[in-house]
Amino acid sequence: MNAQIAESSASQTTEPDTAALGRARLRRLVLTGFMGAGKTTVGRLLAERLGWDFLDLDALIEARTGLAVPSIFAEHGERHFRKLESQALAAALGRSNIVLALGGGTPEVLTNRLLLEQTPATATVFLDAPFSTLYDRCMMQAINPNSTARPNLADPAAAQARFLARQPLYRRLARYTIDTAELSTEETVAALLARVAAPPARRP
Ligand code: S3P
Repeated sequence: MNAQIAESSASQTTEPDTAALGRARLRRLVLTGFMGAGKTTVGRLLAERLGWDFLDLDALIEARTGLAVPSIFAEHGERHFRKLESQALAAALGRSNIVLALGGGTPEVLTNRLLLEQTPATATVFLDAPFSTLYDRCMMQAINPNSTARPNLADPAAAQARFLARQPLYRRLARYTIDTAELSTEETVAALLARVAAPPARRP
């Protein structure tokens, strides 16, 4: 059993320490990671556990524009999508007691990284996994007729190049990183709550 699983199974036996969020003065948890990382699924469950609101950045953009994400890409291009994304992010970060799932490309934009770093009481969590795992998860999701297409996954080689370029950005932005490769949604939420509840590591 690796350390990550050990941590998550241990934490499953205890109630999530929501008071720890207050002690850590957190009012926003933001989930980042590549497509297929589980940001939306994990975010929904995490928000439920905390009694907070769940927000999904892609869904906010769709609600604000009345257009599905693939249509925005097809009709207006990725640059325009990124502008809408920054606007939706700024609006979302104005709210408190939220779990916010970013889009996989949100951290590519400097303005977005600054917004996330400079909003008080906000911690970003990186849901990490290898590219092959993420790609397989996305392919499995794509067979669901209710799933939204992912334009930036259409070309697998280009998607892998984006993955490699984004990894350092996800890492730098995150206060917490959870390796989700071997974890279920439940286990990921448990591992994340355990990390947030743990006292900060003391510097040597
Ligand atoms: C994108 C990821 C998508 C969505 C858009 C672009 C990307 O969000 O924002 O299709 O560039 O990685 P998910 O990560 O929720 O799939």
